Amino acid sequence: MSHDEMYSNQVSAPADIEATLAAIYQAAKDYDGGAVADYIPALAAIDANQYALSVATLDGRCYAFGAHETPFSIQSISKIFGLVMAMERLGDDLWQRVRMEPSGQAFNSIVQLEWEQGIPRNPMINAGAILVSDVLVSHYSTSKSAVLNMVRRLAHNDHICSDEQVYLSELEHGSRNSALAYLMKSFGNIESDVSEALDHYFWQCSLAMTSSDLARSLTFLANGGVDPLSGQQLCSKRDTQRINALLGTSGMYDQSGQFAFEVGLPAKSGVGGGIVAIVPSFGVICAWSPRLNSFGNSSRGMWMVREIASKLGLSVY
Ligand code: DON
Repeated sequence: MSHDEMYSNQVSAPADIEATLAAIYQAAKDYDGGAVADYIPALAAIDANQYALSVATLDGRCYAFGAHETPFSIQSISKIFGLVMAMERLGDDLWQRVRMEPSGQAFNSIVQLEWEQGIPRNPMINAGAILVSDVLVSHYSTSKSAVLNMVRRLAHNDHICSDEQVYLSELEHGSRNSALAYLMKSFGNIESDVSEALDHYFWQCSLAMTSSDLARSLTFLANGGVDPLSGQQLCSKRDTQRINALLGTSGMYDQSGQFAFEVGLPAKSGVGGGIVAIVPSFGVICAWSPRLNSFGNSSRGMWMVREIASKLGLSVY
């Protein structure tokens, strides 16, 4: 598809997109609130005023503003990478062990997991991502290297790694996630050693990436499962639709309904302040700003993504 054909379906030509994004990035300075995640010292110590915006489009462009070269802790956004790999290994059997319903609870809530016999509501809450981590450690000889290789390849950046300080902090302050994992184990829904599944989960949450890395690495979700730069098929079209559906219903935690209502894009946030939003047939938006609202979503990041979707007319609904 030529550039002209690609943009004939879109609201704007590249120069207009760039100008719109630049204006939104500037205006975002005045829209912040909340507090940085402080459950581990490594996140609490961050400079909360820096922020970034990157938009990677399917033609290989990446519009980037602010601190777009600064790696940050991607936290729960990593749940997407783990899920892609677990779907590839387990196929439809995965959906016997984790469901696809919104939880209506906080991302680290425990109560629902007992009512529902250790089957997590979806792979975007912590219990679901720990279950996915269990699948990875059980089905890959070196699950961490497998994830890292995929992320580096997708971002076209061989320097991406997990932040050791964040990882050690996560391990040290992981009681609640351990409780979720042991509860699932008691119901027979964790196959490996609980400590191995948790170790993979904490390591994955500690991956550090820039906003441009993240935007680029997820463009396959806007392109039917195919990485537009390499042409590699990462997952089938059906699985791409399923992942986007999960992001649309559960990716922004207990604010997913409001996000769908106001923004209308499949999206995922992390407590490091990152938000990625998938725009099918167009590209991926990544906003980063460390202060979080009461749901654990970046306040300024939400504002930027909402403005972009509105100004460029990107809602999928
Ligand atoms: O496991 C946890 O609770 C943390 N590593 C936070 C993960 C996360 O980003 C939840 N998201 N909003």
